[in-house]
Amino acid sequence: MSTIESILNETRIFQPSQEFIQQANLSGMQAYQALCAEAELDHQGFWANQAKKLIVWHKLFSEVLNDKTPPFYQWFRDGELNVSYNCLDRHLATQGDKVAIIFESDEGEVIRSTYRELHRRVCQFANALKSQNIKKGDRVVIYMPMRIEAVVAMQACARIGAIHSVVFGGFSAKSLHERIVDASAVAIITADEQVRGGKQNPLKATVDEAILMGNIPSVKSVIVYQRTGAAVPFNPMRDVWWHEITQNASAQCEPEWVNAEHPLFTLYTSGSTGKPKGVQHSSAGYLLGTKVSMQWVFDYKPADVFWCTADVGWITGHSYVAYGPLAMGATQIIFEGIPTYPNPGRFWEIIQKHQVTTFYTAPTAIRSLIKLGADLPTQYNLSSLRLLGSVGEPINPEAWIWFYEKVGQSRCPIVDTWWQTETGCHMIAPMPGAVPLKPGSCTFPLPGISAAIVDEAGHDVENGKGGFLVIKKPFPSQIRTLWGDPERFKKTYFPEDIGNGHYYLAGDSAYRDNEGYFWIMGRIDDVLNVSGHRLGTMEIESALVANPLVAEAAVVGKPHEVKGEAVIAFVVLKGQYPQGEEILRLTNDLRDWVAKEIGPIAKPDEIRFGENLPKTRSGKIMRRLLRTLAKGEEITQDISTLENPAILEQLKNPSK
Ligand code: WTA
Repeated sequence: MSTIESILNETRIFQPSQEFIQQANLSGMQAYQALCAEAELDHQGFWANQAKKLIVWHKLFSEVLNDKTPPFYQWFRDGELNVSYNCLDRHLATQGDKVAIIFESDEGEVIRSTYRELHRRVCQFANALKSQNIKKGDRVVIYMPMRIEAVVAMQACARIGAIHSVVFGGFSAKSLHERIVDASAVAIITADEQVRGGKQNPLKATVDEAILMGNIPSVKSVIVYQRTGAAVPFNPMRDVWWHEITQNASAQCEPEWVNAEHPLFTLYTSGSTGKPKGVQHSSAGYLLGTKVSMQWVFDYKPADVFWCTADVGWITGHSYVAYGPLAMGATQIIFEGIPTYPNPGRFWEIIQKHQVTTFYTAPTAIRSLIKLGADLPTQYNLSSLRLLGSVGEPINPEAWIWFYEKVGQSRCPIVDTWWQTETGCHMIAPMPGAVPLKPGSCTFPLPGISAAIVDEAGHDVENGKGGFLVIKKPFPSQIRTLWGDPERFKKTYFPEDIGNGHYYLAGDSAYRDNEGYFWIMGRIDDVLNVSGHRLGTMEIESALVANPLVAEAAVVGKPHEVKGEAVIAFVVLKGQYPQGEEILRLTNDLRDWVAKEIGPIAKPDEIRFGENLPKTRSGKIMRRLLRTLAKGEEITQDISTLENPAILEQLKNPSK
């Protein structure tokens, strides 16, 4: 572990105000500690109580945790529920007319939908799905713009027990194809076009392109929501319009009562090797996690106007847009566009206009907002805000302080939430009315979450030392398996050599300071974090070598002011080492190629060509050297095992 060393030394500390403490769901450090102690004393009893309190069960469970076949844990497995019932129906009698979603389109049109209206829309669309012969257990791919309809589609799947797999609208046809094939999806829900920042993105055409790639006999229907009315290719044998199959559908739809362990959804995420992993979540455990964290971490109050800016294509948009806020009966914002369009104050304008109280976003967004106008927030009335949140990557203390002072006016606590696609909900995050904050630290684990930092052998490391971040005991919202690949699930997340296969290995390195605060240091696998999105270096490399001109490629990350990490590719061509203008042309071609293969988010920022890559005598690419080169630093590491030291000179100079 000597290589994992922390260089951060942040000493500032921010106490919650008396005012915040007094109104908080979890008030004061003692309340937090008491809850942790309760969970410590009786882990299963603790979670059983929460599950009884927060979920409406159709049939109550009798068994809390089944841990007979680790790591395939099951929670509340003989209980029955419906997640959509828990998000919608349960609110109808008490607050049917409360606004569930305030939607703002790219163009600025505002649509409000109450719980009653949302319920009606979900029921109708659920019936429309049934009319397409979609049944419980079927997989449905959702490739949609960030609109109310995306949430309707997800909730409707949950209502009938179909398993959704949302694919981010920025992914290419190739990535979409891979995910459809892996899930053997029976249907795809999409839109004619997506509109963001005034630009159209042809979703339906991309779906067609994916289907044309073949090998997907499973897809029986493509449901198309009309967003812009643009002319789109339409295959009457397979394609149907959302509005046509919905308009006469009944607004009554009895929910399908499913088992607690019934998969609610799969969501694909990058791994260090091989194809993306279909992370599979349960119904009850997942719902419980999103709900409990809404209360503890977001200190949810019925009067809140909650805004999580994440797209539903990522886990954050699942847990804190499509499920958590609705399960709480919250009013939330859904915004179709981007922070900079039509002006750099768009986010602040939305907060002011809709009186947002809780604003949850990513460090990469915060950094780009600083760049766009560090003083801009002061031109708006942001006094409705009471809590801020951050997710997706470590937030650097400068960005934290700016967020705290300029956006939160030194009044709002910031919850820096560490979690993952695989954990389903927050794992390490401050309870804002209890825990004093340190900029850059996600502070302490949630009650009932046994996070720890261990060495290669699975032993706890002392405070101040870096190690692997693990979660020692099972928890309700955890990943159940990888879709169709239980072996890979076991190997990736519960490796035998760490904690005898009983610890959940997060794939991040971290340390605790002498007060026990957790500080995340980064990934331990070859996964980059670009603008808060996990990208497997291996996937980008495979995309590059799939180009007929490329012989070999290695991809590493380099720190980037706004994006967190930038993608740097080292490429060996099959033919001659390029010269002059050819370098620029090839760089552009290969960048476009990667955008097409994976999606624009994976585009390398820089490509350096060489006649070879630095390798050990056994032929392994020495990535640590490439990382040093990418940063433009001098190589001080030991290069005695390097087969071809001369190559370093050539790769040193960026070729563009
Ligand atoms: C990183 C996003 C530091 C981390 C919810 C993790 C963070 C990966 C934080 C998961 C944070 C997420 N501080 N790092 N607050 N939140 N990460 O699956 O490396 O898209 O393993 O889930 O993002 O990314 P994912």
